[in-house]
Amino acid sequence: MKFYQNEDTTILSDAVEMIKMKKNVLLKGPTGSGKTKLAETISHQVGQKMNSVNCSVDLDAESLLGFKTIENIDGNNVITFVDGPVVEAMKNGNLLYIDEINMAKPETLPILNGVLDYRRTLTNPFTGEVITAHPDFTVIAAINVGYVGTLPMNEALKNRFVVLDMHYISGETLKEVIMEQSLLQDINLINQIVKFNQDLVTMAMQGQIAEEASSIRALLDLCDLTTIMPVERAIQRAIIDKLDDEREQNAIINAMELNF
Ligand SMILES: Nc1ncnc2c1ncn2[C@@H]1O[C@H](COP(=O)(O)OP(=O)(O)O)[C@@H](O)[C@H]1O
Ligand SMILES: [Mg+2]
Repeated sequence: MKFYQNEDTTILSDAVEMIKMKKNVLLKGPTGSGKTKLAETISHQVGQKMNSVNCSVDLDAESLLGFKTIENIDGNNVITFVDGPVVEAMKNGNLLYIDEINMAKPETLPILNGVLDYRRTLTNPFTGEVITAHPDFTVIAAINVGYVGTLPMNEALKNRFVVLDMHYISGETLKEVIMEQSLLQDINLINQIVKFNQDLVTMAMQGQIAEEASSIRALLDLCDLTTIMPVERAIQRAIIDKLDDEREQNAIINAMELNF
């Protein structure tokens, strides 16, 4: 599956060149704008294995660096350390993808700071080991930029990155992605659904509905479901019933009635 771009076709090629230069790359964009997809594409293009961490899920230092465990070697119990994604990427010269880096806890920031600047070094607090990154080691981080508000990123951390601003794919590009990634191949229905999605994006930007409702993930689910049920029911199941707020649900029903 390829990475698609709107008019700004510099994103992928710039990202690849910046990674080859060993710049830390920060992807800024709303959820579903293809940040993870771009990181995977770069990993593939430069031929580097990718290790991922999500700072909003993998909260503690152990999930980043690893943990101690007891292993039975030749009948003896031995304490060993299982490397976490950050340590593994640094040692093997992999691409480290740090998702939702703006959600990192303050106590995690010093760990990341040393990894991301000229030192490219980390002292593992669990083992005392000083790890200097393999020369091939690279970093891509991502933050989800909401229409409604985003937790700002720590300045010292932000300083260590060059930035790529990401936007939702739309229009003809979006139709191509649906053709490639969903089961739906009926171009007339795709045209209608893309127009409906555009209305949802506008509503999300105005804060009327949650961004997830207009995301490409929800859109692809919707397209798949239309191949087995009427479009109205597909919208219900892929989008409306996921929302808790009745006003948001009604806003989407209105948009549906206008488009179908
Ligand atoms: N530019 C793109 N090219 C191809 N597929 C895309 C693109 N943007 C989004 N998608 C599709 O939307 C889904 C969500 O994208 P993802 O990369 O997970 O977004 P993010 O990480 O920004 O939340 C992907 O699995 C992919 O199917
Ligand atoms: Mg992602």
